[in-house]
Amino acid sequence: MTGFPNSRMRRLRKHEGLRRLVQETTLTSDCFIYPVFVCPGTAVEKPVPSMPGVSQWSVDRLGEEARKIQDEGVPALMLFGIPEEKDAEGSASWRENGIVQQGISVLKQAAPELVAAVDLCFCEYTEHGHCGSLNNGELDNDATLKILARQAVSLADAGADLIAPSGMIDGMVGAVRSSLDEAGHPELPILSYAAKYASSFYGPFRDAAESTPEGDRRSHQMDPSVSDQALREVALDLEEGADIVMVKPALPYLDVIHRVKERFGVPTAAYQVSGEYSMIKAAGENGWIDEQKVMMETLLSIRRAGANMILTYFARDAARLLKKGWKP
Ligand code: PBG
Repeated sequence: MTGFPNSRMRRLRKHEGLRRLVQETTLTSDCFIYPVFVCPGTAVEKPVPSMPGVSQWSVDRLGEEARKIQDEGVPALMLFGIPEEKDAEGSASWRENGIVQQGISVLKQAAPELVAAVDLCFCEYTEHGHCGSLNNGELDNDATLKILARQAVSLADAGADLIAPSGMIDGMVGAVRSSLDEAGHPELPILSYAAKYASSFYGPFRDAAESTPEGDRRSHQMDPSVSDQALREVALDLEEGADIVMVKPALPYLDVIHRVKERFGVPTAAYQVSGEYSMIKAAGENGWIDEQKVMMETLLSIRRAGANMILTYFARDAARLLKKGWKP
């Protein structure tokens, strides 16, 4: 390679067709997972004030929405439940007729092509809003593993296609894997929220999922300053049987996505979380940025960093644009 004037980088940027030919990363709707909040009641569509365009839906509304999402070309949903009652252990999460269990069966009937992924955690189900059982006010790791296994088997029995433990509890993937195996679900895959940071970008989700904790989650989620630790978390989860590993949030942690993908070369997911979504929405609504372009640029960047798939509240909007042949 020689320098300027032999090399002129602009040669390949002058023509739309040439720019297309030298693209390195592409965005397709195949990589999207759309998060969905299922709530009690009938005919409920309850907008989440801090997340314009996102609503909680009751189970009876889910089928109709799922069909639309399937038609828009999104391959998967991630279900989150808002239960009728909460208690200290989050027992509503493993009831046979629990809110997510019902959601799964509606999905299977209404939109059988969709992957029904489920978030496995307790923060939506406990009255204290923490991700498991407490012991003297502290999250009890090993006691939580036992109830996590119960939740996993219950959701697997209900027909879930992908189990996604999100609590950052040590040993969670191993505990879920062995309980699924024992319960006759050895082929059900696990998407682990392997590198999940104690992030301030989750605020709007906690409104949506009604899961704001007393205190914070810094005793189990990762400190924003670390990234070597993320690699250890991923290594441990893979050893314990994770099939897909996730980094969360996405845009502030692109470096972590990149390191994980480079180091392990396994299916890697990224979660563009609620705060990332709401910032773009708010700035877009104010006319300060072009919402669609910024949305697509962030999704492309997350893919370029190395993510195979993206959990994003923009999944439907982006899939619709891609279907129409979107160009920047
Ligand atoms: C835990 C969970 C959280 C999110 C997904 N799963 C919340 C948390 O850790 O506080 C956040 C997702 C988002 O902000 O969009 N069940």
